[in-house]
Formats: sequence, C-alpha cells, structure tokens
Amino acid sequence: MNREELEAGARNILLSNLRKGVADWNGKEFSFVVPSLRGYPFQWFWDSCFHAIALTHLDLEQAKAELTTLMSAALPDGFIPHIIFWEMEKQPDFLSRNIVGMTSPNYSSTIQPPILAYAVERVYRATGDENFKQAALPVLTAFYRWLRVNRDPDDDGLIAVIQPEEAGTDCSPKYDRVLGLEELSNRGFIAALKKVYEAYEPLRGDDLAILAADIFHVEDVLVNSIYAFSLRALARLLGDSPEAAEFHREAERTRDALVAKCWDEAAGAFFDLSGVAETPVKVVTISSLMPLILDDLPRPIVERLVERWVMSEKDFWLPYPLPSVPASDPKFMPGNPQGFIWRGPSWINTNWFLSHGLRGHGYVELADTIVAKSHEAIEKSGYREYYHPYTGEGLGARDFGWSTLILDF
Ligand code: GLC
Repeated sequence: MNREELEAGARNILLSNLRKGVADWNGKEFSFVVPSLRGYPFQWFWDSCFHAIALTHLDLEQAKAELTTLMSAALPDGFIPHIIFWEMEKQPDFLSRNIVGMTSPNYSSTIQPPILAYAVERVYRATGDENFKQAALPVLTAFYRWLRVNRDPDDDGLIAVIQPEEAGTDCSPKYDRVLGLEELSNRGFIAALKKVYEAYEPLRGDDLAILAADIFHVEDVLVNSIYAFSLRALARLLGDSPEAAEFHREAERTRDALVAKCWDEAAGAFFDLSGVAETPVKVVTISSLMPLILDDLPRPIVERLVERWVMSEKDFWLPYPLPSVPASDPKFMPGNPQGFIWRGPSWINTNWFLSHGLRGHGYVELADTIVAKSHEAIEKSGYREYYHPYTGEGLGARDFGWSTLILDF
C-alpha cells in the first residue's frame, strides 16, 4: 500500500466514524471520531487523542474539534472521564455488555492513560493555532494537577489506577492476580470487575478513599510512562513560565520513580506496583517496555530492555511485532481472544509509541521493522483493532479508529 492508499483508507474510517451533534444532556456541541461504530460508539479518552494525532495528517480542523470536544467534558475540578456518552440512546446496549464506573449517567468516573497534553501539543504544532493552545492550557494544567492530587496518595510521583481499564490494556494478564480473576475469559474479567465496583460503591466519587481501601490499587508502568511523557509536553506548551518548571519537575519525578521502584534489574523489565504496600507484579507484558518512550531513560536500562525483551524471538520479536504479551508467557493468546483482549495480539497504538521510542534511542532498524510490519498487517487485513502476531491476520473490531496512527509512524 502506498501512502495515498493508506491515507484514503484512514480518511474513510475517520470520516465514517465521525459523530457530530449537540448532546441532549448538556447542550454542548460534539464532533469526534468513535473507536468503532458497532463496538465502541462513544468518545474514549486515549482513542480520541490518537485520532487527533492521525487527523493532523488529514484534516486539521477536525483534529482540533476532536480534542476540543474531549476537553469540553472536563469537570470543574479538572477530572476528564475515560468515556463520554454523547449519544445516550446508544448507552443501554453498551452497558448490557460492559461495566462502567459512573457518578453521572453521562460519563465514566475513571481515567485512561493521560496522553492528552502530547496530543494537544501535536495539534498545536500542526496548526499553529494560538487560540486553540490558550483554550487548552487551563484544562490541561487542571487535569494533570487533578491526577497528582487524587491519584498519587503516597506522593512518590507515580499515579495509581483503580481498575484495569484505566490503563487502557483491559484484560492484560498482569492484572489477573490483583483482580482475583477466577475464569480466564472475558466473562471472568467482567465478573471480577463487577466485584471491584461493588466494593467501591460506598466510596463512589472519592478516589483517595478508594485507593486507601486498597482493593485494586496499581501504580501502572504504561500509565506512568505516558504520564511522564505528557507532563513534558505540557511543560513545553507552557513555555518559559513557573508552571512549566512545575511540570518538568513532575516529569522527572515520575521517571525517577519508575527507575527506582518499578525497574527490576534481574528481570531486565519494569513491573507495576500493586497495593499500598507496592508489591511488584512480576509479569512481563508490553507495558514493561513502555518507559522506552522516555527520551531521558538511563542508557543501560534502554539497552537491557531492548536486548533482553524487544529483540528476543521467544518473547516480543515475532513475525508481526510487538505482541501485547511475550510468546514465552504460558498465558500468551495470539489468536482471537473473543473480547479477552490485550493477552497476545499486536496493537498499532503500542507499536506507534514504541517505534518512536526505539528510534529516539537510536534503534532505527528495529523501529523501521515495526513500522514495515504494521504496514504489512494493515495492508493484509485492513484497519482492525489488533493483529495476530504470527500471521498479521486482523482481529477484533473492524474499521478501528486508532489503527490510523499508522499515518504518524
Ligand atoms: C478497549 C481497549 C481500550 C480502548 C477501548 C475503546 O476497551 O482496551 O484501550 O480505549 O477499547 O477503543
């Protein structure tokens, strides 16, 4: 597929998945791309950021509209939900199949990996639109401060998630034990998630109390890598100001904490910390590699991660890299996991992150191969939700929004 064909396919998806209108419940205008018309018919936080980045290659006005719509859902205290149900008529069907934590009927009460400041920076760079940036900055500063105040109770620079979907990698095997997963299936996952939410019921809306209850409290490596990466973007957007210094400092604190607390020298990988006691969750997944997106990660760690895990043919270096779980893990499920996602297949968003990260650290050939293989999978199977890491077969939702990130590799 040449660039033109790739763009035509991406344009087609981003336009057909585009939803515009005025919400009945708050009278606000919305204009954004749904991840997929059938399975995911609302606005998702990190999907939207990826859509906006892909749109910088196709339609700058729509790239701005996507993020403006997302930021219009920010609450006065700074929080931004991970799902916004702009079109409420589609909600009953969705909620019959999924569990969503809510303090309002119109949006979720949980977060997703906080990539927003980076997406805003990209859209601002592409458009040069000062008004867009000026409108975004107060929303961004409030959001990143909200995370610090409400999600980092031990004040170590690492923010915590209260349920696995907050990390965007829903059913990853790294959560099996913390979640108390009894049945290895999507049904088992939903049942376990339901129990978590039942336990949260008396504490609903008070994230610090929820974290103190220590039911599902995970300082997640993927989330914190993206947090540090985006704090830098926010600091750059803020220019030469005391606020910029605040966010640079936070980015450094998060990186230092990832290295000091999550890096496991013997395993050569980063591990999440579970609970108030911060017990390392010694399960390697794609998330263990995510600190590679930080350009200031110490060089010996970069080399170890790449040599031990990325390039290892029994782990991540499969015909269509990089799988969400290394092939050496007994729980690795390369084929269609029937909704039991993030347990083997390769995803375009993590490939986008890691190909850029590897390139930045000088691993040009590895990055080029990830890019070429991602192209090949899309050429073979179209824009799908995820891909079989041995065959490139497309799996999960069709016409899936964030796979158009291929335009930005
Ligand atoms: C799944 C993914 C999550 C994504 C959502 C919408 O839940 O795990 O990361 O945001 O679908 O595409």
